[in-house]
Amino acid sequence: MKNNRLVIISHRLPFSFKTENRVTTLKPSAGGLVTAVKSLDLSSFAEKPVWIGCADFTQRTWDKHQGLVDDSFQYIPIFIDKQTHKSFYNGFSNSVLWPLFHYFSTYVDYHDEYFKAYQLVNETVCEKVMEVLKPNDLIWVHDYHFIPLPQLIRERQPDARLGFFLHIPFPSYELMRLLPRACRTYLLNGLLGADLVGFHTSDYRLHFLQSVQMALGQSTTLGKVACGDRVIETGVFPIGINYALYNEAYHQPEVEQERQQLLTSYPGKLIFSVDRLDYSKGVLQRLDALEAFLNQYPQWREQIVFLLVVIPSRDEILTYSERKQMIEQAVGRINGKFATLTWLPVVYRYAPLSFPQLLASYSACDVAMITPLRDGMNLVAKEFVASRQDQRGVLVLSELTGAANELGEALLVNPLDEYEVAEGLKQALEMPPEEQARRLAAMQQRIAFYDVKKWASDFIQLLLNTQSANPVGR
Ligand code: G6P
Repeated sequence: MKNNRLVIISHRLPFSFKTENRVTTLKPSAGGLVTAVKSLDLSSFAEKPVWIGCADFTQRTWDKHQGLVDDSFQYIPIFIDKQTHKSFYNGFSNSVLWPLFHYFSTYVDYHDEYFKAYQLVNETVCEKVMEVLKPNDLIWVHDYHFIPLPQLIRERQPDARLGFFLHIPFPSYELMRLLPRACRTYLLNGLLGADLVGFHTSDYRLHFLQSVQMALGQSTTLGKVACGDRVIETGVFPIGINYALYNEAYHQPEVEQERQQLLTSYPGKLIFSVDRLDYSKGVLQRLDALEAFLNQYPQWREQIVFLLVVIPSRDEILTYSERKQMIEQAVGRINGKFATLTWLPVVYRYAPLSFPQLLASYSACDVAMITPLRDGMNLVAKEFVASRQDQRGVLVLSELTGAANELGEALLVNPLDEYEVAEGLKQALEMPPEEQARRLAAMQQRIAFYDVKKWASDFIQLLLNTQSANPVGR
């Protein structure tokens, strides 16, 4: 790796800018992808890595304020006109691919105009990549926004070293076939431009290989796709977290202080969850389960508080803004039904948390209730587990997350079954401390070993091996 420069391409850069009272500051981006890429160990690369992404600020803001940005990467923002970006991001990426890949097919809102904008943005990004590319660069493309990009780059640079990682589920072919034929062919061929395509779980990888067979009629053997004189490797890389960061935060003074405040404010049992605003996260179903729990186990009323944090996300899209209203109605309904003059069952916040607030919430709660209807991985579950240096706390986790494959000691539940979730909650609240510690220790050991650095180095190592198996200049 010492001879290579790493070029990361993702839709979002890890920062944006906000201006308040004429003072501009950096605003960190949310989401698993950014968190993971920011935690990479960059010491093994020859030169400063490059990170290319779409700007959600103007060229003028960038010219004026780029000095605020850290210098661990050479950041290259791409400026796309507003209308095209809207059709690309709100449209094809988040109203077609996101719902389809998360099995919400009825939320898919396909328009040719969205697909054209998606193609155009991918071509624009490809041009930018061509401008900065040097021999020996290792290109690592991330996520569903840029599925066509590997093939676009390959056409212009046949010997590029190119990996792609998908951070969301890859759905069964039954879902892929709902896309117009030209569109699904374009997407699958796009991925086949890479030397290595990585997924979080073996199911997602299998679904991809089946789609390649069914939609393109291409044969696959032992996880490889033969494409002319090239072989495309696929792999399973369950993304991890910066374990040490979350584990060691327990004793940070700001975290201790925030935790103390939470423990004083909520002397009973505290249930916690934090998600981006997204229908895939199952927040409404989680609230239904809490209601079922309070109905079924009245002895727990006034003994628990559910701290529900939702981080604003994609709220220009109707399916998201509607969801926010529905969540707020459900919180109102439950609080109206069960509150007493001195107790509120749900404390709801629609805003991001600072790192100390997040870590204090993870480490103060008795139960982390993480129940998405679908999630590629879910790093919140891993962060919670890592943060419990005190070996206390119980994870109630949806079996429909990628993380459930690695966190078998959590209480795994079907997020759609409110009675099963309510039962899981009761079991979690009543779990003896020794059992909490035993379950946490097993999970901690696993995620401490396969952390984000190992995830990245495994991916890059396999990419280098795969690439050297392919002839250069093909
Ligand atoms: C998921 C996706 C990321 C995305 C993040 C936040 O984790 O896999 O690609 O960046 O959500 O979503 P946003 O639309 O705000 O970038």
